[in-house]
Amino acid sequence: MRAVLPLLCAWAWLLGAPARAAAALSVNSLEKFHFKSWMVQHQKKYSSEEYHHRLQTFVSNWRKIDAHNNGNHTFKMALNQFSDMSFAEIKQKYLWSEPQNCSATKSNYLRGTGPYPTSMDWRKKGNFVSPVKNQGACGSCWTFSTTGALESAVAIASGKMLSLAEQQLVDCAQNFNNHGCQGGLPSQAFEYILYNKGIMGEDTYPYLGKDSKCKFHPEKAIAFVKDVANITLNDEEAMVEAVALYNPVSFAFEVTEDFMMYKSGVYSSTSCHKTPDKVNHAVLAVGYGEKNGIPYWIVKNSWGSHWGKDGYFLIERGKNMCGLAACASYPIPQV
Ligand SMILES: *[C@@H]1O[C@H](CO)[C@@H](O)[C@H](O)[C@H]1NC(C)=O
Ligand SMILES: *[C@@H]1O[C@H](CO)[C@@H](O)[C@H](O)[C@H]1NC(C)=O
Ligand SMILES: *[C@@H]1O[C@H](CO)[C@@H](O)[C@H](O)[C@H]1NC(C)=O
Repeated sequence: MRAVLPLLCAWAWLLGAPARAAAALSVNSLEKFHFKSWMVQHQKKYSSEEYHHRLQTFVSNWRKIDAHNNGNHTFKMALNQFSDMSFAEIKQKYLWSEPQNCSATKSNYLRGTGPYPTSMDWRKKGNFVSPVKNQGACGSCWTFSTTGALESAVAIASGKMLSLAEQQLVDCAQNFNNHGCQGGLPSQAFEYILYNKGIMGEDTYPYLGKDSKCKFHPEKAIAFVKDVANITLNDEEAMVEAVALYNPVSFAFEVTEDFMMYKSGVYSSTSCHKTPDKVNHAVLAVGYGEKNGIPYWIVKNSWGSHWGKDGYFLIERGKNMCGLAACASYPIPQV
């Protein structure tokens, strides 16, 4: 059955978030100063009415970050491009559908017995991981997870670092149950590239960050997929093997409110779910390790290089944290 529903991206964390109390916060001058600096840094301009509204939201986020960072947690939070937005607002602006179910990704990956190295980082092995990209306000995380995995696969197999076209996947991969800015799955995008006979480069098919008409030209395809490895549901150890021995791995997980403000350290949550029907964001595991007794994944995100730790985050490994082992896959390139 090909009834995999679309995987929602960046904005799905809003679902179920309670609307914030409307009572105005009393904002001190330090907080105002920080908001103004943040506005300059992020090139924000508001009408004076909107300014007060944004200031309130910013201060509320800032205080959450402060409280978190003063607590005993394995990760730190910080301001970022999302800091002037409340959950309720973004919900109205960006939300299209419910978090989706990725458990229909059929597995075909056969795991060995290990043991595996205690750590791995494809970024340090050579030029195998492309720079962090930015999906903007489009639920296209799945296309960035896909191009990131294939860019690495091609680099590992051939030594060539390409930059591949997310927009082609947004525009053209619908027949494989993907839905452009409304979501999709990396495993289904790899299938699309396999049967479509290739994917073009970022230079010939630039990213727009919105749904548009398919402009694929087969003669301009520069990367190809020969096979897709789908890892068995909830087999996180198989993900370790795949990352250790073969390739960075595309996976999905459930993003909740606190994740948006992640800055550094090992992300861990007790509020997210572990089931495949709750995942709402796709990313790319490029390595793993362990710090102070906590095993983690090293993960490339698609919210630009200023988000998190230079565009990356660490997330706790070995517990199917936020359902991260629900639908992992990677492409076998044809080179
Ligand atoms: C912080 O949390 C860790 C792990 O839960 C615990 O071992 C440690 O004692 C805590 N430290 C403080 C100061 O509460
Ligand atoms: C998710 O998909 C699986 C397999 O298709 C199905 O068994 C399960 O009931 C679905 N869960 C939800 C919440 O739709
Ligand atoms: C891998 O998963 C995709 C998408 O869910 C599916 O279409 C494909 O048939 C699976 N591949 C294998 C070899 O089972």
